[in-house]
Amino acid sequence: MSAAPRVIRTPAEMTVWSEAARARGERVAFVPTMGALHAGHAALVRRARAENASVAVSIFVNPLQFDDPADLARYPRTEEADARLLEQAGCDLVLLLPRDGVFPPGFQTRLDQPALSGLLEGAVRPGHFAGVLTVVARLLAIAQPAAAYFGRKDFQQTVLVRRLVADLELPARIVVCDTVRDADGLALSSRNVFLSPADRARGLCLVRALCAVESAFERGERKGPALEALLRRELAPLGAPPDYAVVVDPEDLSPRAVARAGDVAVLAARLGKLRLIDNHVLGAKIGPFPQRP
Ligand code: PAF
Repeated sequence: MSAAPRVIRTPAEMTVWSEAARARGERVAFVPTMGALHAGHAALVRRARAENASVAVSIFVNPLQFDDPADLARYPRTEEADARLLEQAGCDLVLLLPRDGVFPPGFQTRLDQPALSGLLEGAVRPGHFAGVLTVVARLLAIAQPAAAYFGRKDFQQTVLVRRLVADLELPARIVVCDTVRDADGLALSSRNVFLSPADRARGLCLVRALCAVESAFERGERKGPALEALLRRELAPLGAPPDYAVVVDPEDLSPRAVARAGDVAVLAARLGKLRLIDNHVLGAKIGPFPQRP
């Protein structure tokens, strides 16, 4: 039976815990989250658990990465369920910092990556990635982990975080874990709770688009524009053009004229008030999922 994780509410206590673990020769893993945890987060914690002696998870709904105050206000908060999931997944410590623990009064620093942060998600959500980079750098400074775990569902975020750690020569290794999907293929997301059953069913065309692009790639299609046209065709039932649907270079996120294995098909589309994002690494396995009814 797993024990309830210890809860820490100040940066100083977190740093002491991390230093003590290192002094015992233990590798500390860190999983930053915004709560509203689901099986995708549990998979990150389990992998961190399997690869390290100590696992800390932070829950902090970071105001800096929301461009819309209404979106921040309605972001799901599910503290009790989160605590149960973390206990079952084998987390040792939960870091629950208040806003002024993460960003103390007078905090001024903002990090950004101008060439990357305005693309794709960043074009639709101005300032989002500066907020993500700033909070991730701050949380890594507090937790001082040997490794930090992120889900590939937020593919662009993983690209920027890896760049952050490389540019600043931070000591944490960034581990990117596969997207966890429901049985029908929908990528898990904390915001999926807001999908009506009808929108949820319509949202499955995102994963169908990714499966279609992978099949075409396996049959030998390499032309970026042709793969993009296929993505858009599969997304057409949504009735509005996607925010983006494109095959990109996995390092600089530029659109690929000629695709190769390891490139990433990324897409984002609106469903009612919600946006869904998803992606697929070309040449990797995806599906099969149940066909359209
Ligand atoms: O992916 C998330 O949940 C957030 O962007 C992160 C990495 C916890 C930063 O707030």
